[in-house]
Amino acid sequence: MLQISPVEIKRQRKLVIIWSITFMVVFPLLIILGLLMRLNQGEDINLGADTFYTLMTLHGLGMAGLLFTFSFAGLWYLVGTRQAKLNISVGYFVYTLVLIGVIGLAIATLIGKFGPGWYMLYPLPFIGVNWPAWSTGLAIVSLIIMGVAWLSGIIHLVSAMSKEFGGFSNLMGWQYLRKRKEGERDLPPIVMITTISLVPGLCAFLIGAAMLFMYLMQLLEPALHFNPLLMKNMVMFFGHTLVNITLYCCVGWVYALLPEYTGREWKTDKVLVYSWNATFIFILFAYFHHLYMDFAQPSAFQYIGQIVSYSSAIPATAITMFGVISQIYHSKIKWGVIPVCFLIGVAGWAIGGFSAVVDSTIAVNSVLHNTLWVPAHFHTYMLGGVVLFILGLIFYLSHTKEEQEKDKTAKFGFWLFVISIHCFIGMFYSGGLNSIPRRYADYKGIPIVSVHHTGALLAEIAALFIILLLIGLFIMYFAIIIKLSKQKNASLIKSV
Ligand code: HEM
Repeated sequence: MLQISPVEIKRQRKLVIIWSITFMVVFPLLIILGLLMRLNQGEDINLGADTFYTLMTLHGLGMAGLLFTFSFAGLWYLVGTRQAKLNISVGYFVYTLVLIGVIGLAIATLIGKFGPGWYMLYPLPFIGVNWPAWSTGLAIVSLIIMGVAWLSGIIHLVSAMSKEFGGFSNLMGWQYLRKRKEGERDLPPIVMITTISLVPGLCAFLIGAAMLFMYLMQLLEPALHFNPLLMKNMVMFFGHTLVNITLYCCVGWVYALLPEYTGREWKTDKVLVYSWNATFIFILFAYFHHLYMDFAQPSAFQYIGQIVSYSSAIPATAITMFGVISQIYHSKIKWGVIPVCFLIGVAGWAIGGFSAVVDSTIAVNSVLHNTLWVPAHFHTYMLGGVVLFILGLIFYLSHTKEEQEKDKTAKFGFWLFVISIHCFIGMFYSGGLNSIPRRYADYKGIPIVSVHHTGALLAEIAALFIILLLIGLFIMYFAIIIKLSKQKNASLIKSV
């Protein structure tokens, strides 16, 4: 049986607290970029198109990278303190490389004005741009550095779990599909979900790395050209998979932590194995719905995109919702801030997932494509799902079970945050339904007066809710910092 020493647990805890503090600093800064974008679209400030796209690029890449990195860090902590021995130096290696990558990206965007959007849609970073080549180079190298960090972290985590649980097939839960041996070790759901999220992630990062090297080659040798359709496939496979697995990584820790509050076990069984194994396949093929507008693509891809997008919504989501309900139903759970974060986060995932499925319907997509409906759906499950899971984990690190039940400040901040994020996102949905295009620095150039005015008005209202959600966030930070500093003082007194 695995023994993890208290010293090792303390080391892992220190690392995850460093990650948490980094998240707590970077997250509101990236929100402020979102606020500036909305104020510009509402015509309350005038950033100019160049600055707008610079901020949009840093915001998109920064948020996607930050959320994936923290979801990985959370898994690392939970697996490393309960399920498998992890090398803490690899953890710090990942942290340092990610930090270097983030600094590089911030310089490339804020100083170098690199602004092609998170997807850098080929040949955009090379043709007709108004930023210097060095900033493109720095952005690409920074992303490669982060890719190296993530790849090394994933390989270490999956191989440590594989060693502990007797091979890859056991990590996938296939032992549950045959008659199990007497006394065979149970597989915790978090271990299976970690594997099912991170192995497709490995494929996505390898494709992403190949694509970034192709960009780098063209930067160094401008005579080179690649097939734009191939590049779009690569970037969408990378980006869609990254966002998808960020969600699943966080869902993994809900399986591990919610039972601590309901007092009920959440075990792996055949149904869980079948549904998460199906998800493994769907993660890899759902990105085809990003290619609906590329008519040069083989038409089979369109059908695959449609079928897989619909199917991917069912197994993991339905089985997790059912699991959460059966965890809670008639349990003696006390609704402290941690289980509330997980429950409302799962709801955000379901609502955002549903509007994603709506948008992945070809007939609907031909109307909503590139309207604000698109940021609406991914902000719902990232901000209303992943971010709440992350806050739940940070509260888990700072508050004891009793403290999180009683902490009224944390609960007030949480509800202010949640209500405001859904109102902020509501303005995106309303924009989508009113045909307001996405990725417009402002709507002044739109000749249809009603679209211009509605777009600007919704952006102004959204900005008010962003200010409110920031207040909610800082109230939660206050509650977290008070408890963390109390813990620090207590451990200092103990060591004296
Ligand atoms: C309160 C928090 C947030 C605010 C205020 C905010 C605001 C915005 C705004 C105004 C846009 C531009 C929409 C457009 O006109 O096309 C945007 C785009 C985007 N946001 Fe957020 N956002 C927030 C949270 C997040 C989170 C948590 C993620 C996590 C992945 C995220 C990822 C993105 C991405 C990927 C884009 C698209 C960038 C692009 O098209 O290149 N945002 N956000």
